[in-house]
Amino acid sequence: MAISLLVLNGPNLNLLGTRQPEVYGSTTLADVEALCRETGDRLGIGIDFRQSNHEGVLVDWIHEAKGLHAGIVLNAAAYTHTSIALMDAIASVELPVAEVHLSNIHRREEFRHLSYISKVAVGMIAGFGAHGYVLGIEALANHLNAAG
Ligand code: DQA
Repeated sequence: MAISLLVLNGPNLNLLGTRQPEVYGSTTLADVEALCRETGDRLGIGIDFRQSNHEGVLVDWIHEAKGLHAGIVLNAAAYTHTSIALMDAIASVELPVAEVHLSNIHRREEFRHLSYISKVAVGMIAGFGAHGYVLGIEALANHLNAAG
């Protein structure tokens, strides 16, 4: 594998499939992981897929990604809207980030409209469910190719 990407998932995403299915659908996090691995295989990209409910663990994993991975596909879940620490971690490692959300955060409550991640991400995909992760991986691969 030429390059690898870290696919990072934040709090409560371990409950996908049973968590508010009217918002997030019936796809489980294991299904999302399988989709990411299929996409990685198709593109010849290694995938390191992780989830944590703890902000500091996510910060540590972003730090560790530097030197290991070419970029990060990040669904920071609720930390999207609160975490200056995650934003600073991304800015510190200078890895390209594709921000992903299953739901369209701009169609939802006002407090979900602010994303600290968007301030440091290359771009954002929201509202396409689990397929957003496929789009995120493809977009980062394309971005990295373009960057040479
Ligand atoms: C989410 C959107 C967030 O607002 C929410 O807190 C989540 C999931 C999404 O994937 O749609 O936990 O990131």
